[in-house]
Amino acid sequence: MAKIARVSHLQEFKNSGRKFSCLTSYDQFTAEIFDEAGINVLLVGDSAAENALAHDSVLAITVDEIIPLGRAVAKAASRALVVVDMPFGSYEAEPADAVRNAIKIMKETGAAAVKLEGGKRSSEQIKAIVEAGIPVMGHIGFTPQSVHALGGFKVQGRGDSADQVMAEALSVQEAGAFAVVLELVPADLAAKITQTLAIPTIGIGAGSETDGQILVWTDFAGLTQGKPRKFVRQYVNLREQLLSAASQYVADVESSNFPNEAESFSD
Ligand code: KIV
Repeated sequence: MAKIARVSHLQEFKNSGRKFSCLTSYDQFTAEIFDEAGINVLLVGDSAAENALAHDSVLAITVDEIIPLGRAVAKAASRALVVVDMPFGSYEAEPADAVRNAIKIMKETGAAAVKLEGGKRSSEQIKAIVEAGIPVMGHIGFTPQSVHALGGFKVQGRGDSADQVMAEALSVQEAGAFAVVLELVPADLAAKITQTLAIPTIGIGAGSETDGQILVWTDFAGLTQGKPRKFVRQYVNLREQLLSAASQYVADVESSNFPNEAESFSD
């Protein structure tokens, strides 16, 4: 069996100039498949809210809801680094809350790390969780849990606000995070942050110069409805394939074509 990934392996990737790949995963089968394909990091993202639990927003998912998803992914993956998102409301109020919830997530999922959003505003929480012995992945740029405060799904760090995004990245590193997600950040700024930080950066809508890349798996696999966002590359259209397979099954059942003799038991 291949070696289980550790957070230190991402640092080794950065130090040796090798890129790494990350996908979200919320269930056993995608975890097994992505793990076998060699994906380095499986993120049990709070995007599960809209892509596995049919919530209207990422803000809705709770610690108790993300835990069984994280446990399934951590049990099914034998090699990839499994990281679980800290849901909105589970870490913002107090560092002590953040530590309590991070410990609960680690204990009950078997994941290797947690992820939380925010730069400077989350520094104390990142420090406290790291001091409790739990690796933390940061997340800056567009932070989906702050979608209302940010005025919608918008690129962050254009023009004069570039310095602020750089400062957020530095504060996540300073607080002790082992890596940081840069979401919806102009490619040049993401490249500059990647060169400046000692820790690995993971881009989503942040150009090709980050140390790693991440996509939400349902976007990557064409399950998400509607036109994919600009930064998404759809590698397969599973929605179309499943729709076609399920329609064929309906037709086969209705025409008594399923099951056939080989699919039935004799006396
Ligand atoms: O929840 C998620 O899927 C994420 C990625 C977009 C990085 O946070």
